[in-house]
Amino acid sequence: MFRDQRLGQTSDDVLQFLSSREADRRIFQADLLVDRAHLMMLREQGLVSGDVCSRIIAALDELHESDLGRGEDVHEAIEAEVLSRVGPEGGRMHTGRSRNDEVATCIRIALRAEMLGLMEEELSLIRTLVSMAERNADTIIPGFTHTQHAQPTTLAHHLLAHADAFMRDLERIEDAYARVNLSPLGAAAFASTGFKIDRLRTSELLGFDGIVENSMDAVSARDFILEVLSDLSVFMVGLSRLAEELILWSTTEFGYLELDNLFASTSSIMPQKKNPDTAELARAKSGTVLGCLVSALAICKALPMSYNRDLQEVTPHLWRGIDQTRATARILDGCVSSLKFNAGRLAQSSGAGFSTATELADSLVRITGMPFRTAHGIVGRLAALGRRPIPQDLDKAALELAGFRPSERGFSAEALEKALDPRSNVALRANVGGPAPVEARRMVEERLLRIEKHEEALIKRREKVRKALEDLRAMR
Ligand code: ARG
Repeated sequence: MFRDQRLGQTSDDVLQFLSSREADRRIFQADLLVDRAHLMMLREQGLVSGDVCSRIIAALDELHESDLGRGEDVHEAIEAEVLSRVGPEGGRMHTGRSRNDEVATCIRIALRAEMLGLMEEELSLIRTLVSMAERNADTIIPGFTHTQHAQPTTLAHHLLAHADAFMRDLERIEDAYARVNLSPLGAAAFASTGFKIDRLRTSELLGFDGIVENSMDAVSARDFILEVLSDLSVFMVGLSRLAEELILWSTTEFGYLELDNLFASTSSIMPQKKNPDTAELARAKSGTVLGCLVSALAICKALPMSYNRDLQEVTPHLWRGIDQTRATARILDGCVSSLKFNAGRLAQSSGAGFSTATELADSLVRITGMPFRTAHGIVGRLAALGRRPIPQDLDKAALELAGFRPSERGFSAEALEKALDPRSNVALRANVGGPAPVEARRMVEERLLRIEKHEEALIKRREKVRKALEDLRAMR
């Protein structure tokens, strides 16, 4: 439409190439809100008459996405539709603004809604993990480093480790929200406008927390997208780690857990199979989201000020990234909350691979006073035996390496038994952040309080936006 007046018609091929209409479906509703807020402000500033304002608002109220005709983007298509319904006076809607500030505003409005949804999903996943930890403070499981049996721990400790990582992911999204929920509207093409508009008023009407002040920055900045995609990528990496464990732990070799049938698939040829397909796709989608981030970074790199059409190409990566992340968070939440742990198998496995060796060395230090490095050498000898050590084994190795028998320095057969018991291993590790049931329970309590605080903050953010948009929609 803007072309016809001067540049003449373009080809379908070119129009298709230029078009952002597919991705613009995500900002159709936001655009109507932006139009409305801008109009209200124009009227308050005396830049559009009450009558024209009302006629345009009435046209916007009746407008459905399916009414829109051709056009490079949704902004152009909506304006064309308003003009056809209101006549030339409808053209006053675009006074003192540009598609450049319009699109940046629309993306921020649509994105903040997605972020609020994501925060809710992150909180739900964290709550699932913490509740599961609460029920499993006493469940002893093997802990790994290098995917090799390392030391026993508690299931609560393990689940809380994931929960804490996801809590940081949530906090990153909350931090980013403060930079996303700012209004670029009124920046116009980039150089502001000579009309006496009121940017703070449109910001307020649209439920923003403030404005992106510099009008050149306002239209050209997409670092809020890069920031959100970065945060999503980090979150997805965390989710992929959880997914990987679900896959690994549900194998016959591990046998630590069973996924609910809802989250499993079978094979088209092997009737016995129960495959963890949802967890596998969760693992894979982290790659997709990383790709969205890298694509967006590459498009933005080296763009000169201010608006460039390249920026249109960034937005679909944002929507793809947020959609995939939200879906993955929801699916893994469902996967985790419905899975069943095999506590017997976990307990049995917790002492495997001489995982109590560290505690045995520590006990030698505590009871006999020998240096830790010496104890490490002695227990290393015992590990080489490839069987459960008996007191005579210990005395023999210690005599060679430390020059004395531990049994003669108070290291009883009971002390050996205790050191080799996974449960007492774990109970001893009660320092802050450790796996001991008592400490895991303390962490659970503290996390539950934090979840509540974040839930309250989420309600406040949502309420602010909801109220502003409700008021805006009611304005005539
Ligand atoms: N569809 C465009 C985008 O997403 C809207 C802004 C177009 N501005 C322009 N000067 N052509 O970036």
